[in-house]
Amino acid sequence: MDSPSSTSTDQTTPARDHGEAVETLDESYVKPFWAEKYRREACKNWDKFYKRNANHFYKPRHWTEREFPELQFDADEHKTLCEVGCGHGSFVAPLIAHNDTEQFDPARVTAFVADLTKDALTETVPRQSVDVASCIFVLSAIPPEDLATAVANVASVVKPGGTVVLRDYARYDQAELRFKASNNRLEDHLYCRQDGTLAHFFTREQLDELFIANGFHVKSSAYVLRTTVNRKTSDEFQRIFVQARYEKRLQ
Ligand SMILES: C[S@@+](CC[C@H](N)C(=O)[O-])C[C@H]1O[C@@H](n2cnc3c(N)ncnc32)[C@H](O)[C@@H]1O
Repeated sequence: MDSPSSTSTDQTTPARDHGEAVETLDESYVKPFWAEKYRREACKNWDKFYKRNANHFYKPRHWTEREFPELQFDADEHKTLCEVGCGHGSFVAPLIAHNDTEQFDPARVTAFVADLTKDALTETVPRQSVDVASCIFVLSAIPPEDLATAVANVASVVKPGGTVVLRDYARYDQAELRFKASNNRLEDHLYCRQDGTLAHFFTREQLDELFIANGFHVKSSAYVLRTTVNRKTSDEFQRIFVQARYEKRLQ
């Protein structure tokens, strides 16, 4: 996740040295009682996170239109976008602002609370009605055993021919190295933060398979490398994300 005081630049070389460092660090697992509790309360801990942080934590994601052509709408186009795990709207708010004079028009935007692992999105969003759904740093927050349910839930509202755009943490992201050092591992590549929220670090293949199993084909799927620089300390962080676009197959 980008910190509020960082800048990003594209990188072209994989950060394999980080991967090797991750594999060689000796570490233990969180005790089963706590691991089970963190998994069970993963969604609830996000609610607590937003109560504490209000809307100041995530900076607006201005890069999404550049990275995902599906988000470049013509003025007269009527498209339906479903952002899952929207938090305070750091994805959708800048998108609306770029395309409209109104930040939030309740006639055009519906915000609702749903746990993707429990609540059917079709209770609120008509089945197969969405042109573009977004999963931006959301699936990494969900316990791995619930991912198939969550992705099936998203799939249920996407039109045949519609697209899911996704960016999420990749394995060997430098954030994973930091987790390794903190001994907060629930299972390989799955960690909990101090506040009980989860962070799962994926391979492209894991995410591709989840969507293929739910009726999508892969339009694009790649590792995106970024260097973020903390402006106060000048420390550099090598970030690795999975970025993908999945198109719902026509039945
Ligand atoms: C890292 S934040 C990303 C927020 C936002 N998408 C962004 O890019 O800034 C993870 C988000 O996933 C949401 N989330 C976690 N578990 C969820 C679940 N089971 N169902 C729906 N959303 C969930 C959290 O509420 C939080 O808003």
